[in-house]
Amino acid sequence: MKSTKKLWMQCKLLIPGGNGLISKRPERYSEDKWPTFYKKSKGLNVWDLNGKKYKDMSQMGIGTCVLGYANHYIDRRVKKAIDMGVNSTLNSTEELKLAKKILKHDKFAQKVKFARGGGEAMAIAVRIARAAQKKDFVAFSGYHGWYDWYLATNLKGKNRLKNHLLPGLEPLGVPKALKNTIFGFKYNDCDDFKKRVKNKNLAAIVIEGCRFQNPNRKFVREINKFCKINNVCLIVDEITSGWRSTIGGVYKKFGLKPDIVIYGKGIGNGYAISCIVGKKKYLNYANESFISSTAWTERIGFVAANSTIDFFLKNNVHLEIEKNGEYLINKWRLLSTKHGLKINFSENPALASFYFGYSNQVNSKIYKFFTDRMLDYNYLANNSIYLSYAHKKKELDSYLKICDKIFKEIRDLVNNDSKIYKLKSRKESFKRLT
Ligand SMILES: Cc1ncc(COP(=O)(O)O)c(C=O)c1O
Repeated sequence: MKSTKKLWMQCKLLIPGGNGLISKRPERYSEDKWPTFYKKSKGLNVWDLNGKKYKDMSQMGIGTCVLGYANHYIDRRVKKAIDMGVNSTLNSTEELKLAKKILKHDKFAQKVKFARGGGEAMAIAVRIARAAQKKDFVAFSGYHGWYDWYLATNLKGKNRLKNHLLPGLEPLGVPKALKNTIFGFKYNDCDDFKKRVKNKNLAAIVIEGCRFQNPNRKFVREINKFCKINNVCLIVDEITSGWRSTIGGVYKKFGLKPDIVIYGKGIGNGYAISCIVGKKKYLNYANESFISSTAWTERIGFVAANSTIDFFLKNNVHLEIEKNGEYLINKWRLLSTKHGLKINFSENPALASFYFGYSNQVNSKIYKFFTDRMLDYNYLANNSIYLSYAHKKKELDSYLKICDKIFKEIRDLVNNDSKIYKLKSRKESFKRLT
């Protein structure tokens, strides 16, 4: 651990924050025990710098590796593309192939544009909605990346994004002129939605397909109705939800009627690719407005996404992920009853999660305790699992046996004030809520 800590300190000295993604920072799991760096990953296994093997029962590349790490089917095709040259002055036909593949499963849409990052794709979507509508205002719920249009929410006070996954984000460097261009509303709360969008002359409504909670019917109906009556562009962000538990987006499952849908993490199995899929009356503005970038045409992203979607369809990956997620949540529920723990669970099996129901201080201590004890059994674990095709039932059962032991230890801790207060808390500069 000493050399790992030293490396992370060097990272923090040379790279702001230590790396490019807050969700991979060790402080968010267990500052003193998290292995932080990896040498190799395969299936659901991750090897740290000392060659120690862990099973990943946590973030799976922060939700990117839906088929499991280093999937042979994908990587073989990517390696072939590398041998053929991943870039040139001319275009690769894999872009067109991917456009056809995506559009086949999004019948509402006629056009698609590709990018590489999720937040970047969201910025494109909002730009083209504003361009087509010739209006500036946007209302949203959920997390949509790091760009100015979104972070501008916190110009009105840094707690404005508190209930949208990441609290405490500072809008430093975001032009003050963007204040009052964006309005957040609570997910699944029709009254709050109506209040926030009233008389706003909106260009777009932006929501996540789903995260931990599924959208309820009334909420879906209200949003569809509002967008239709007021001719507002409905953007459904499926960067995390899409191509994971459904073919395409979960908007189909829940009855949302989008004008634009965004995919990202679900379609590349770890390779960088994202896309904006939508009605041509909006997507045409991706050409009318100036939106263009060199890195969006490299070949690997297209090859990885074409292969990921083929593998996904051939193996009905979504059915396996849904089934295993439901199994896991049911078993956690049984364990929490067995040990008399206060725990709640996510509704979305593709992002199976549990939440301790004690005070914030106690919760923070027992989340860290859970992660630390799981590491003792060679698991990377926190309270959320992005299940993948590599998580088979046998693996879940082995993991649940350890959960059983650790939940019992947690029960003993929460019943003993003097023991619990000696535990360290999870250090969270930013905390994922919901
Ligand atoms: C729903 C949603 N939107 C946007 C993003 C931002 O994507 P990226 O981190 O690739 O910029 C994420 C990432 O977690 C996400 O889950």
